[in-house]
Amino acid sequence: MDGNGRWARARMLPRSAGHKAGTDAVDAVVRASAKSGINVLTLFAFSSENWSRPQTEVSLLLDLFLRALQSRIQELHRNNIRLRVIGERSAFSARLQAQITDAEELTQANTGLVLNIAANYGGRWDIVQAARQIAQRVERGELSAAAIDDAVFAAHLSLAGLPEPDLFIRTGGEQRISNFLLWQLAYTELYFTDVLWPDFDAAAFEQALSAYAQRQRRFGRVSEGDAVANEQQATGA
Ligand code: IPE
Ligand code: MG
Repeated sequence: MDGNGRWARARMLPRSAGHKAGTDAVDAVVRASAKSGINVLTLFAFSSENWSRPQTEVSLLLDLFLRALQSRIQELHRNNIRLRVIGERSAFSARLQAQITDAEELTQANTGLVLNIAANYGGRWDIVQAARQIAQRVERGELSAAAIDDAVFAAHLSLAGLPEPDLFIRTGGEQRISNFLLWQLAYTELYFTDVLWPDFDAAAFEQALSAYAQRQRRFGRVSEGDAVANEQQATGA
């Protein structure tokens, strides 16, 4: 979710106003996802690298996160949404950590949209913490090194048990992954838009979904049409 600061600057407002406007875009996209029958939505709210922003901005972002959880959790729960937070949460205040745990526990049995909020998250962090857990299992003699494969690895990542994302959306004009879900994005369709996050509404989201619907996903294979043509050529049909 990128572009809050630029959205504010264009309106001669402080960056904080951009972040506040960004929470409305979150509401719109969560609602649109639930309505479109999307199973999993993962939002990158705060990266491991965002700590290097000015301290006032970091506090504001974490405070907004806390308040957004407090004010929205009941509505999410009513809508059968399951909330999870991924990332290194031990760096957060005790209050925020408690709020996260409460929100996760309240919604854990919900069967609708799975809403993952990546907070103090980094794709490399996720891979490293998975590697550490796996190494500990090997040290304890529970797992042999030879048994480590893609599936074992994925089972130790923060999004274990969830399908890999079909679509990645980055707003704000930058065309990079910026340490988001590095492992899981291997075959994900990437969509970049210049729309700044606070302007990313249901219509912009719809546009991203239609762009995705036009993509042909091959996962390293050849397309159906090419496979048939090849076969016909080989058999002289
Ligand atoms: C939001 O946009 C990203 C968050 C960390 C919440 P930015 O704050 O990166 O906005 P720009 O890139 O300065 O416009
Ligand atoms: Mg930015």
